[in-house]
Amino acid sequence: MIKHNTILIIGAKSDIAVAVAHKFASEGYNLQLAARNSSELDAVVSDLKIRYEISVSVCELDILKYETFTDFVDSLDCLPEIALCAVGMLGNQTDDETSLSNSSLVMRTNYEGPSLLLGEIANRFEMRGSGSIIGLSSVAGDRGRASNYIYGSAKSGFTAFLSGLRNRLHKSNVNVLTVLPGFVITKMTSGLQLPKLVTSNTIKISNIVFTKHKNSETVYPFPWRWIMLIIKIIPETIFLKLKL
Ligand SMILES: NC(=O)c1ccc[n+]([C@@H]2O[C@H](COP(=O)([O-])OP(=O)(O)OC[C@H]3O[C@@H](n4cnc5c(N)ncnc54)[C@H](OP(=O)(O)O)[C@@H]3O)[C@@H](O)[C@H]2O)c1
Repeated sequence: MIKHNTILIIGAKSDIAVAVAHKFASEGYNLQLAARNSSELDAVVSDLKIRYEISVSVCELDILKYETFTDFVDSLDCLPEIALCAVGMLGNQTDDETSLSNSSLVMRTNYEGPSLLLGEIANRFEMRGSGSIIGLSSVAGDRGRASNYIYGSAKSGFTAFLSGLRNRLHKSNVNVLTVLPGFVITKMTSGLQLPKLVTSNTIKISNIVFTKHKNSETVYPFPWRWIMLIIKIIPETIFLKLKL
């Protein structure tokens, strides 16, 4: 009998996550989909099962409730080969600057929760001696900018966490992939004016994730590595005067 591999997708209602689910399902992977208010995934689940004839399980998960994470991992129908976290929250920079609770929510959603949960799963992968951890972080974490530094600083923390995890697990046959999208057309960016030339769709991101999922590296959709390289080397005296 053919053994199908399994991918756990955390934050499975995200538009990028749904595209990743379709990509892996089309390649024969079984899916474990974790989300808050997970019954909202019913239509997506039926579609995936009908199209690809794979197994799909759904679990309830709130990324802010770290005290539930150990039980969450224990209750999975199997320890997956791959775990991807797509949870994220952009927030509203201007409003969040004057709200400690809003800022805290953005920081915990983008940094604390995803890091703690992927860290817990990584420990299980390390014990087993195999697995792939994938984090969807953001180019916003590469350098703090006035327009989105609350979200960006949380993504920066997540990127650093994944980098350290990758470094630690290098010898344990567990790979850690960090994906740093620039702009992607999803519900997170709806209402924003996105520059066409450097904006991706969810299919492009899901293809990158699939192609690179066994690698231990940081990937950017083209041309964001080069854009961020330039942004990172701008001297602070000039950067202070820019509106980015
Ligand atoms: N779109 C972009 O331009 C872009 C760029 C760079 C990086 N990214 C990152 O890519 C990832 C996916 O983004 P996306 O564009 O697909 O966004 P999205 O469609 O808005 O998805 C974000 C998901 O996070 C979930 N979430 C938020 N708080 C949660 C919580 N407390 N517990 C569980 N789930 C929670 C949301 O759940 P609900 O559906 O219940 O609200 C939503 O499904 C995010 O990490 C994002 O930061 C996106």
